[in-house]
Amino acid sequence: MAGILDQIEPLKQSALEELRAAADLAGLEQARVNYLGSHGKLTALMKRMGTLSREDKPAAGKAINTAKAELEALLAERRSELELKAAQPKEAADFTLPGRRRVLGKLHPLTQVTEDIVRSFRKIGFVVADGPEVEDEFHCFDALNTPADHPARDTQDTFYVQGTGGRRQETGGSVLLRTHTSSVQIRVMEKQPPPVRIIVPGRVYRRDNADATHNPTFHQVEGLYVDRNVTVGDLKGTVEFVFKELMGSETQIRFRPHYFSYTEPSFEIDFSSSLTRKMGKEWLEIAGCGMVHPQVFENVGYDPEIWSGWAFGFGIERIAMIRYGINDIRLFYENDLRFLRQF
Ligand code: DAH
Repeated sequence: MAGILDQIEPLKQSALEELRAAADLAGLEQARVNYLGSHGKLTALMKRMGTLSREDKPAAGKAINTAKAELEALLAERRSELELKAAQPKEAADFTLPGRRRVLGKLHPLTQVTEDIVRSFRKIGFVVADGPEVEDEFHCFDALNTPADHPARDTQDTFYVQGTGGRRQETGGSVLLRTHTSSVQIRVMEKQPPPVRIIVPGRVYRRDNADATHNPTFHQVEGLYVDRNVTVGDLKGTVEFVFKELMGSETQIRFRPHYFSYTEPSFEIDFSSSLTRKMGKEWLEIAGCGMVHPQVFENVGYDPEIWSGWAFGFGIERIAMIRYGINDIRLFYENDLRFLRQF
């Protein structure tokens, strides 16, 4: 066997060549193992150093260490080179391609209209109140002075919650899905003394078949104002302010006498604007309202000799339909993006 010293240079040369030739990190690692690994060729040479004579050892040792340092330097250089290459995209990038855009979502048109309504009322000092959608007869009807034989209490109109229908509970009576947000008037007045200045946006339920203008669930906004010496004038001024905000400043409103069991006197509110004329009508019915019935105050423990107030309620879908010219209420609930994207 040739002397160790003579073997170092050729071994180093072939190692350098293999390291240079490696096409990727795996190839480079293989080349490292071949020479510098624990069973590598250069490692084997180093292990044989012990067999050398004292005179030969220093020169051979120096040559091996130099060779090893040289290999390691090239290894490090090639490794960073190949790492960079591995990190680069495999295919050529076309930087002129348009990026992938995420589509920004929007609030549902009903939510937008609700927020507009709430914003208008906040300007004049109203706060938002809330109540349960699963209600009882007391809050939905009795406390609102709605007699037991009133058509609204017929099962045709109301969803009663199964298992509780007919079984009068000690307090609230049968459990049902609220048919209007008026129940929250009672909930709020039970909990707090006057004055009261609230609006209640919320979902309501009625046993109606869905068609272009009806849906078994829809949304209402209730308003309630209780204080000393509240008048129909306050009611009319407030309603006029809010509808001008919602439907444009040239909007006009008018009150027509009506009947609700929880208000006396009661009115229906019609409004007139470019929107109603676009629909071929001068006046459109939009809400119900009136002065809170003294019996309702009695029912919640307010003294009707001291306190007076008004209330109103209207449908949010109806406002949105008139505002945007939507001709079918069901469009609101289908979540068809072609519809929703328009708002
Ligand atoms: N609750 C009535 C409905 O669902 C709307 C309504 C009318 C609410 C008169 C009121 C009111 O507060 O005073 O049709």
